[in-house]
Amino acid sequence: MAEVVGTTENELAWTPEEPAGQEQTGQEQAGQEQAGQEQARSGGTAGPATPLPPYSDNDTLVVNAPVIELDQVTKSYRAGSLDVTALRGVSARIGTGEYVAIVGPSGSGKSTLMHIIGCLDVLTSGSYRLSGEDVGGMSEADLAEIRNRRIGFVFQQFNLLPSLSAWRNVELPLTYRGMRREVRRARAVAALDRVGLADRVEHRPGELSGGQQQRVAMARALVGDPSLILADEPTGNLDSTATGDVLDLLDELHQQGRTIVLITHELDVAARAHRVVRIRDGLVESDTAAS
Ligand SMILES: Nc1ncnc2c1ncn2[C@@H]1O[C@H](COP(=O)(O)OP(=O)(O)O)[C@@H](O)[C@H]1O
Ligand SMILES: [Mg+2]
Repeated sequence: MAEVVGTTENELAWTPEEPAGQEQTGQEQAGQEQAGQEQARSGGTAGPATPLPPYSDNDTLVVNAPVIELDQVTKSYRAGSLDVTALRGVSARIGTGEYVAIVGPSGSGKSTLMHIIGCLDVLTSGSYRLSGEDVGGMSEADLAEIRNRRIGFVFQQFNLLPSLSAWRNVELPLTYRGMRREVRRARAVAALDRVGLADRVEHRPGELSGGQQQRVAMARALVGDPSLILADEPTGNLDSTATGDVLDLLDELHQQGRTIVLITHELDVAARAHRVVRIRDGLVESDTAAS
């Protein structure tokens, strides 16, 4: 199966400000070959109940169909006798294939927003449509299916299970899909190879550096071939080299047509995205194309 490329213009259309000391990893090419194999392999497995929406074709990215439509979203948490309002009316549309950074100070509501976008939590009022479907009307089983099939998550704290080897962590999303163990293992190993960790498949998280652990988490996020990647401060615990590796991987996933939503409070990290949504006190303060 031919690999979908054809996004070189995107790469040239903007010049990110590279953080000092960052180097190209040279993983891109190997990763793209791997992607082709992985997609071919996923074609042979049991298909999802609802087919994935197309997120790219051979020539052009489908950038206009909104994948995320938030309309006046609010979220309040009840903490003891206190109501904390984390989101106070957020409206935004994110198109298929966009790479958006959500930035804002600590406590501004970024993670809350990601939990809602990722169907990990439900909103208090307003509406959220994902690929045109109203998430508010979905059952918990529907939401679990969406999280598993369509969304890849990456968190600041990696969220790996310490007792499991790298490949066992990576295959976890596939265990809910009724795939045979050999198929799961092959896909997990391919995903680890793609993030440059082919020689660490049997290592446990505690035997890996922070940067390597985050690459395991990224392999886990992409093993199910999701169309949407949500990353919440993925570089928050990493040094500049590991930060560069994670951002290069996100660039690669974006170039393959995936929609990326990257939460960060670091402006040089946000500069890798093509659009920046600024959140303050639970509201969108600005929403601009990256310079
Ligand atoms: N589970 C929760 N229970 C109560 N309050 C919460 C919870 N999660 C977040 N909050 C509050 O909501 C606000 C926004 O938090 P969060 O979305 O984590 O912000 P950010 O990710 O931008 O730092 C904060 O005031 C925080 O204390
Ligand atoms: Mg947060």
